[in-house]
Amino acid sequence: MARLELSDLCFSVGNLDILRDVNLTVEEGSCLALLGPSGCGKTTTLRAIAGFLQPTSGSITFNGQSVVGTPAHKRNVGLVFQDYALFPHMTVAENIAYGLKRRGVAQTECTQRVADALELVQLGPLADRLPRQMSGGQQQRVSLARALVIRPNVLLLDEPLGALDRKLRDQMQVELKRIQRESGITTIIVTHDQEEALSLSDRVAVMFHGQINEIGEPTELYREPGSRSVMEFLGASNFLDGTIVSGGSAGSHVRVTDELSIKVAGCHTEGQQVQLGIRPEQFLVEAEQRAGGSNLIAARVREVVYKGPHVELHVEADAGPRLMVQRRIRGITAQDTFAIGQAVYLTVEPDAILVF
Ligand SMILES: Nc1ncnc2c1ncn2[C@@H]1O[C@H](COP(=O)(O)OP(=O)(O)OP(=O)(O)O)[C@@H](O)[C@H]1O
Ligand SMILES: [Mg+2]
Repeated sequence: MARLELSDLCFSVGNLDILRDVNLTVEEGSCLALLGPSGCGKTTTLRAIAGFLQPTSGSITFNGQSVVGTPAHKRNVGLVFQDYALFPHMTVAENIAYGLKRRGVAQTECTQRVADALELVQLGPLADRLPRQMSGGQQQRVSLARALVIRPNVLLLDEPLGALDRKLRDQMQVELKRIQRESGITTIIVTHDQEEALSLSDRVAVMFHGQINEIGEPTELYREPGSRSVMEFLGASNFLDGTIVSGGSAGSHVRVTDELSIKVAGCHTEGQQVQLGIRPEQFLVEAEQRAGGSNLIAARVREVVYKGPHVELHVEADAGPRLMVQRRIRGITAQDTFAIGQAVYLTVEPDAILVF
């Protein structure tokens, strides 16, 4: 187990900068999710940590010791690839034992550690199967056991749940979280699924174009992202451009259109151009206008998308802007439905609105 630190890590190929001053710390025993769009440099970051590529500049340390000159096989890093990469001709037990044998671990200890690893991923009864005789989720757990059995300093998981269906994915998320906590191994999990990142990790780092844009705890990053791009990447959101027309300690008013003014929390400078970010679940939607609630917006339903636990309404405010709002569905009968063209009334509390 180790504290992992990347400082000003750069990697270029020719004049193409793939990683640009990546700074990242993963505390000993904790789990960091590395999140970002395709091609932003997530796998490249893992490859640099594992020792498969030589950074152009910057440092990588395990417990304060530089590993930049250390070859990959001496870094003691456990890796799980998206496609599992199991040896097809070896049984589950042989696949898991492979790394131990290569490290010259004695047979009795090897047998015990393989059994322990199998138990951790709850695959004991399948020890003698071949990979092709197992489901995707089971193979994924073998791959995880194979990475864990060597007792790595650092565990790197590259989209480990990418190939699984929704249900198995949800199950494996819970499983992975348990295994990571029980084994206490410093872990980085790469994903482009924001839900996975938020649910699995102690901290989330959001990467764009080879740079870390923001790092924080899942709740803090979801609720109070520092920028529009991070907010957008972490889930559905609405953005409205506006101008601060009055600011004070009790809140500020933002003019979005001539007919629409929105109250936000906090004191902002008058005349400032801002962008408001509102999560769809922060709106309260009613079919009738009621007393109470802030920032009343009259609108018409333009599209209704049924999502199972909630319904997504695309609405057009009478004052102009189009918004996407969510409404939880309660009860079994469908009396809670909205029709296209129907008038609705939205309210949203000032402290649920982010100002960028
Ligand atoms: N050896 C290389 N030579 C040139 N370009 C490379 C090399 N390795 C990676 N790249 C480029 O660097 C960028 C980052 O690649 P990387 O594989 O790290 O992305 P990623 O964030 O893992 O994306 P994905 O989510 O699609 O897996 C991409 O634009 C890729 O084409
Ligand atoms: Mg990748």
